[in-house]
Amino acid sequence: MSVSADVADLTGAGLELSISGNVATVTLARPERRNAMTPSMWRGLARAGESIPPDVRVVVVRGAGPSFCAGIDLRMFSPDGVPGEERGLSAADPGFQESIAGFQAGYTWLRNPAFVSIAAVQGHAIGGGFQLALSCDLRVLAEDARFCMKEPALGLVPDLTGTKPLVDIVGLPRAIELCLTARTVDAREAAQLRLAELVVPVADLDAAVADLVAALLSTDAAAARATKALLQAAPGNSLEQQAAAERAAQATLLRARQAG
Ligand code: ACO
Repeated sequence: MSVSADVADLTGAGLELSISGNVATVTLARPERRNAMTPSMWRGLARAGESIPPDVRVVVVRGAGPSFCAGIDLRMFSPDGVPGEERGLSAADPGFQESIAGFQAGYTWLRNPAFVSIAAVQGHAIGGGFQLALSCDLRVLAEDARFCMKEPALGLVPDLTGTKPLVDIVGLPRAIELCLTARTVDAREAAQLRLAELVVPVADLDAAVADLVAALLSTDAAAARATKALLQAAPGNSLEQQAAAERAAQATLLRARQAG
């Protein structure tokens, strides 16, 4: 079923949001432009995140058509801009960073421990599209998937929350090499770099994602949420801190179960 909240609004932003049981699917739905992104789409992604029902356990992010996402709509850089989109986002504007924070909100919600987010990637994921895939907890790639952090080639830094997960996943030297050359990583290399949990033939992408979703739904919901939160905290914790966090999480989980 489609979510009632702001469906027309999301459609106008080039997005679709559907909920089936405990699974939400966000689709970038501008295939004729390879799902190129605009400020409206970034804000729409944030609104999609806000409207995820509390019982959702898995969020799948996918792109319609041959590419996952071609990154920012390059017409944003042209004098005519993109019809219907705001113009004149300038670094001289005092609200410039606040605007970017609003765009970043379209990405950060995917890390919510309430659910596991999966990027289902076929074709190109470039710039803001690569960063969207990086914002998800897991990435399932079709064999034709291609990642590219294009921003430095265009005179920009990646600013849609992708730099931290990239460094966390591939390490600092490889992240520097990938970003500062803006080269393209194919699906085989993405798997080697741990940028893909799974690489499957193009025709099998939806089935592979469905299998992964089913496996994720097979565990206890409350335990899964608490475990994702624990795992997310682990890199910033010492062993002692993490051990204490495990004890506290277990106590909270079991107390809630006894109470319920
Ligand atoms: N912005 C606006 N329009 C785009 C974009 C984009 N980022 N990407 C593709 N399109 C449009 C094309 O202009 C074309 O439109 P047309 O049919 O009116 O000519 C249509 O989508 C199809 O694109 P093709 O290039 O024909 O598709 P193909 O499958 O051959 O290539 C690819 C896809 C590789 C994604 C290519 O379109 C491309 O390189 N796009 C630009 C990618 C880019 O540099 N993005 C910016 C990243 S930086 C950032 O996100 C901040």
